[in-house]
Amino acid sequence: MDKELRIGVVGTGAIGRTHLERINTQLQGGRVVAVSDVNKEFGKSVAEKYGCKFFEDGEELINSDEVDAIIVTTIDAYHEQYVSASIKAGKYVFCEKPLAAEKEGTKRIVDLEMAGGKKLVTVGFMRRYDPGYKQLKKLVEERTYGEPLMLHCAHRNYGVDESYDNSMPVENSMIHEIDVLRWLLDEDYATAEVVYPKKTKYAHEKLQDPQIMILTTKSGVRIDVEAFINSHYGYDIKCEVCCEEGIVNLPEPANAMVRTKAARITPICEDWSQRFVEAYNVELQEWINAVKAGRVDGPSSWDGYVGAITASAASKARDSQTIVKIEMEECPDFYK
Ligand code: NAI
Repeated sequence: MDKELRIGVVGTGAIGRTHLERINTQLQGGRVVAVSDVNKEFGKSVAEKYGCKFFEDGEELINSDEVDAIIVTTIDAYHEQYVSASIKAGKYVFCEKPLAAEKEGTKRIVDLEMAGGKKLVTVGFMRRYDPGYKQLKKLVEERTYGEPLMLHCAHRNYGVDESYDNSMPVENSMIHEIDVLRWLLDEDYATAEVVYPKKTKYAHEKLQDPQIMILTTKSGVRIDVEAFINSHYGYDIKCEVCCEEGIVNLPEPANAMVRTKAARITPICEDWSQRFVEAYNVELQEWINAVKAGRVDGPSSWDGYVGAITASAASKARDSQTIVKIEMEECPDFYK
């Protein structure tokens, strides 16, 4: 496709707007021409600001012949509906994680896509595009320091309000680690466990924070991921890969170090939008390029399905305080 890709965004909330803004101001080859949001007044104001057409109904936008490809950035509960509508319309669709609110929904999407016979879906697991994780991937893949044996990871946020419930450290935050570490190690998980350390006084009544998720891969690599969502200092992502002949660490963001008031200070990001700027840019640029070339080469529906199955097992492990075996179907040839 030579002409500019005409993109429609369903869900003009926080991440929908940042995707729209970067596509229309920084990236090449595509343009958001239409938006839809259930909050009509707000959606219309976004459409006006960026010179897009506003559709009152998300499915009407998806089926419009003014739109070539779709981005779904609604709340989780509506991902399945809009991704399925996009597949039925035969259009490429980029869906923010999670692919569906429930694991059964991700399987229905996989089945629908396979029935259509063409890969159309990309899932927004953007850590795979982060330059730091790409460095780790190269070193692990080439076995530069031997076999990876253990990973120690952390996912810390400054703080959250009461809308962030006890399932969300796994389902909403560590889902990123679930995907990126599986991609990093190139293997699936065998078991999941979630343990509770001592609770911070900053967590609200119904949230157990921090939580530690322990995953074991099929070859026996042991992973611990700390989710500390009320860390009270910033947004901080850590990943240490312990190999047989060396320990490899995810690089810190390159923020300038300042010497002041008898201290050396290097700022830490405040939230995800600052920490993964480059990853989002590359992710969406590669999606536009792939769609224009008529293919899907990012995280697939199958990756969305595996992520959901793993997160669901980890949630079960958390609620039962047991170790849960992760069981899923064989990857179909369609996704290999
Ligand atoms: P948000 O709450 O700011 O925005 C969601 C928007 O969807 C709202 O404007 C809401 O009115 C709209 N909406 C809700 N139901 C709708 C429907 N049926 N039809 C059309 N619009 C509807 O949420 P945020 O933070 O933008 O998150 C959106 C999605 O992006 C979530 O699924 C979240 O998990 C994902 N996300 C991914 C991130 C990443 O790092 N990859 C980071 C932040 C969010």
